[in-house]
Amino acid sequence: MAAGSRVLDACCGAGYAAAGAAQRGAEVIGVDFSPAQVEMASTRNPACRFEVGDGCDLPFPDASFDCVLDAIGIPHLPDPDLGLREALRVLKRGGRFAFTVYDVPERAVGFGAIVPTVQAHGNADFEMPKGPDFFGFSDPGESRRRMEVAGFAVIEFTIVPQTWRVRTLDEAITAVMEGTVRARVALQAQTPEAMVRIRAALAPGGLLIVSGKIRFEDPAEQAFHEAAHLDFKRANGYSELEISGKRSALEGVMIVDTEAQHRQYFSAAGFRTVRKWYQCLNWAAFLVEP
Ligand SMILES: C[S@@+](CC[C@H](N)C(=O)[O-])C[C@H]1O[C@@H](n2cnc3c(N)ncnc32)[C@H](O)[C@@H]1O
Repeated sequence: MAAGSRVLDACCGAGYAAAGAAQRGAEVIGVDFSPAQVEMASTRNPACRFEVGDGCDLPFPDASFDCVLDAIGIPHLPDPDLGLREALRVLKRGGRFAFTVYDVPERAVGFGAIVPTVQAHGNADFEMPKGPDFFGFSDPGESRRRMEVAGFAVIEFTIVPQTWRVRTLDEAITAVMEGTVRARVALQAQTPEAMVRIRAALAPGGLLIVSGKIRFEDPAEQAFHEAAHLDFKRANGYSELEISGKRSALEGVMIVDTEAQHRQYFSAAGFRTVRKWYQCLNWAAFLVEP
């Protein structure tokens, strides 16, 4: 988009797309049907103008913008096809409309994980508030058909990753509970006990960390590491008496396994990924993932 072009951010929310366009030198107006969102967008982006308006009945004359943006607004409109026609109506000839929608649930994994997980581990007996199909535009073929019907001529698709940066699962669940309208109903319908099961099933990147002594198959290597370990103890203030006392206490009691044996235990228990991430002499730590 060229500097000075007139840009509409439809269903603008807090105005992220508007802000990006303004940074490129565009003259930007944002509309959203939520007065609270319009107020937030105005506070955050003083360089743009925002007003309350309906994406299905845009409050602008025909051919008034060079570019219309719509970031995940179309799937929320009661009549998404009317939203497409409205975007086309307010565009000047040769103008461009750029909109994003959710990808199919198999790829929009964070979003797509909630309902199946609730169905598998919680109470699936809830009714989502009525609304347009979240994934009605996820298929490029179907999207193209609807855009052509609306009157658009040159149509291109790109898959862009949408990354939620959350530090914990709780943050992700809070984002769904407080930041969504329909998806949160699935979580609100759960008992505390079901939520525990759902959290456990949703937890991505669960990790087992195991660290301890290892043994070596090769006797020479074993002897080297044992000697080095004892030297390390002496250097760190252990007396000969303490060293021999600990050794006799553990002899025949603590069975030390090789790295290969540890790996075998992990895989027999059902873990699929094992990484040795640390080793100092005969001590090693493993990161083990399901
Ligand atoms: C998923 S949010 C996206 C917000 C913003 N575009 C962004 O990327 O952060 C969808 C937005 O559409 C707005 N919206 C839903 N229905 C609308 C309608 N009929 N007219 C205008 N805005 C609408 C909501 O208020 C919400 O801000």
